[in-house]
Parts: sequence; C-alpha cells; structure tokens
Amino acid sequence: MSCVLVVGGGGREHALAWALSHSPSVDRLLVAPGNPGTAALNRTENAAVAADDVAGLVALCRRESVDLAVIGPEDPLAAGIVDALASAGVAAFGPSAACARLEASKAYCKRFLIDNGIPTAAAEVFEDPDAALAHLASRPDVPVVKASGLAAGKGVIVPETPGEAASAVRAMLTERRFGSAGEQILLEERLWGREVSVLAFCDGERFAVLPPAQDHKRLGTGDEGPNTGGMGAFTPSPAIDDRLLERIGQQVIAPTLAALKRAGTPYRGLLYAGLMITGDGPKVIEFNCRFGDPETQAVIRLLRSDLFEVMVACATGSLSGVPIEWAPAASVAIVMASAGYPVAGSDPAPISGLDIAEQEEGCVVFHAGTGVIDGALHANGGRVLAVTATGMDVDAAADRAYRGVAAIGFEGAQHRADIGRAPAGVRP
Ligand code: AMP
Ligand code: GLY
Repeated sequence: MSCVLVVGGGGREHALAWALSHSPSVDRLLVAPGNPGTAALNRTENAAVAADDVAGLVALCRRESVDLAVIGPEDPLAAGIVDALASAGVAAFGPSAACARLEASKAYCKRFLIDNGIPTAAAEVFEDPDAALAHLASRPDVPVVKASGLAAGKGVIVPETPGEAASAVRAMLTERRFGSAGEQILLEERLWGREVSVLAFCDGERFAVLPPAQDHKRLGTGDEGPNTGGMGAFTPSPAIDDRLLERIGQQVIAPTLAALKRAGTPYRGLLYAGLMITGDGPKVIEFNCRFGDPETQAVIRLLRSDLFEVMVACATGSLSGVPIEWAPAASVAIVMASAGYPVAGSDPAPISGLDIAEQEEGCVVFHAGTGVIDGALHANGGRVLAVTATGMDVDAAADRAYRGVAAIGFEGAQHRADIGRAPAGVRP
C-alpha cells in the first residue's frame, strides 16, 4: 500500500487526485495545497504547503513517508523539485529541472527543436528592444510575440498589425510588464491551422500517448476575447486521427526523448506538445512539462487503467510493462469562471447546484478556484470549476456537461457556450 502526494491546487490536480483515489494500491493521498474538492476525496487530506515551496514539500514527503510525489504545475518542476526529491530518496512523477527547461525557456526550447530537426515555426530571439523593433520593421509579416520565460499562460501575444506587434515588444522588453519572464522574447512566424495538444506518458525512453484533446483558449464563445488558461476541452479531437497521432509520436515525441536521453537527462513524466496542424504538417508551438489544464479534467475520465501504476512505471523507467487502457468514448470539460477572469479577481460568491450536476446529471465536477466560508462552498475568482461528462461521442458528452453547468450557479459565473461544439483555434 502506498502514500501519494499530489502537488498543486487546481482543477488538473483535483482530476489527478480523483483518478489516484480510485487506485487499489493507494491507501493514503495527500494534496498540497489542494482545494475543497480534493479534501472531499476518499482517503485524501489536504496539506497546507504551497505548490512552489520546494523545501516544504520535500520535508512533507519525508515526514509522511510519501512513496510517490506527483507534480501538477510547472513552477516547482522548473525550480527543480524532482531533483530535490530524488536527492531525498523520494520517487516523483515529473521531469527534472533540466527537462523542464523545455517549458521554462521558450528560447531554449526553440533551439532544442531546431537542433534536433523537430518541426516548429521559425523564430528569432531578442533581449534588446531596439534590435527587436528594427527586426520587426524589416519583415513583411506580423510575427507572434512571446515572452521566453514562465508567464502563467499569458506570455504570448498574437498581434494582427505591425503596430500591435511593436506594442507587445515594448510591453515585454521596455516596460517589463511580464517581469523576468519577458527579459528575453521570441518573434515567431505565425502558423495557421488547427491547434491540437498531444500528451504522452514518458519513462525516459518509451512513451504512450493519451487520447488527443482540444483546448478552447479564448475567453468567449466563438473564440472571441483574450487568451486564458483554457475555458474547456474535449476528447477525442476530430483534428487528429491515428495516422497523424502516430506521425506526431515519431516526428516530435520520439526525437525529443532520444535527444534528452543522449544528453544524460532522460524525460520522465508527462510531456505535452502544443501543435499546429499546418498545410505543411504538424509543427510544435510549445512544450509543457506537465499535464494540461483543463485537458486533463476531460481526458482522465476515460482512463481505465490504474493511474498510480502508470505513474510509477514512468518514474522507474518501466512503461513497457504497463498496458494503458482508455474507454472508447468521448469526454468534455467545461470551465465555469468568475466574472473578472482572466484580468481581475472577484468577491467570494456562494455556489449552488453541484450535487444536482453530479447526482442527477452524472457529471464529475473538479474544483479550482473554490473555498469554504462558514461551511459553505464559495467561488473565489479565476477558473472556479470544470464540469466534466462522458458520452458515446463529443456531442453527447457536451450535452450532459452543459446540463451540469445549467444546474450550477454562482454570482457572475461565466462559461463558453460552444465547448466541444466549435473547432478550437481555427483562423481563416
Ligand atoms: P503558447 O503559450 O506558446 O501555447 O501560445 C499561446 C497560444 O498562442 C497558442 O495556443 C496559440 O493559439 C497561439 N500561438 C502561439 N504561437 C503561435 C504561432 N507561431 N502561430 C499562431 N498562433 C500561435
Ligand atoms: N490548457 C493549456 C495548458 O495547460 O497549458
């Protein structure tokens, strides 16, 4: 019997903890810091340690004799939590800091992709605003402007005009609006096509892809409004068939794992490739070194195998011995966010109807921005809940998830009306 720690407190971590709580091998689950949703799972307790407190988390693992630590967010990975846990003799699901640089530095990632012949958009790296603006003025197209460092999903600006691109460059390099994440920027060729995410369990050498999911990043229905962390997701994605998935495995995931192994830093954990399916084939937009949020909330509902066994196999380099089975069905996750998201917080607001969504509509609701005040569940701002449902196909799953959303209420709640209904990320 094993004790597992899940690090993080969002919807992704609730979904991972939910799946781990169903493992017959897990008799105790800790979530740091967790949320009211994780606190309610079987055999689970929240631990009051912040997700980026690496020393505190290592101490927690030692104190509680944790057998496996599962790292949800990118910040502790980039800060080297997996290396620190390894030194303390604690097994972890997640990559080392060396591997997590693929997400933590877009400039490093771009060099890595190009050096290893992995298809991606052309990009130039700048630290000097004048040099970046001069380059911008010299090119005929309007490139995407990206802060190289970790910016909580907000460091990418897709301008429509040269003026907007120049403002984005100034915001990052001159005004430092993205802090140290924007000290170095990329001006990247804009790609057109359908955006897909391919996630793979990796054991340092081998990998197993998860069912492909699509994320809806824009705030509003019809892909209107600003980019967000993700307003919903669905799987399977019609943009990606078995042949394309195989091609992405061979052209993107396999060479990445091979290069990192050659470098002496094998990738263990979850590798997330954000891709654009262009007329020229799939191209990498970004790598993340962790599960997607809210893709995970949708995809995890289809996992039939024991997540704990899969994660231990990744951590110990033995993925080939563990068959991973998925239900041949569809799943949808719809995010309900507070009024101010993604720019401002909101006052706490009581949440009603969760029991109806779960018990009458058959949804599973994962918490993110929730809190308990005087014993009552409240929305605390940001992305609050992800309402998930499965079905025979994406339409049926979305119908059920939207019935769940309709049952849930809190002041100022906002959600997109087209999750799983409209192709995500398509532009003319
Ligand atoms: P990222 O954080 O790198 O995933 O970028 C956020 C979003 O910006 C992506 O999901 C895309 O929708 C968009 N994006 C990033 N890079 C490009 C690109 N080269 N061409 C077109 N859109 C892009
Ligand atoms: N949903 C996008 C991400 O997790 O990065």
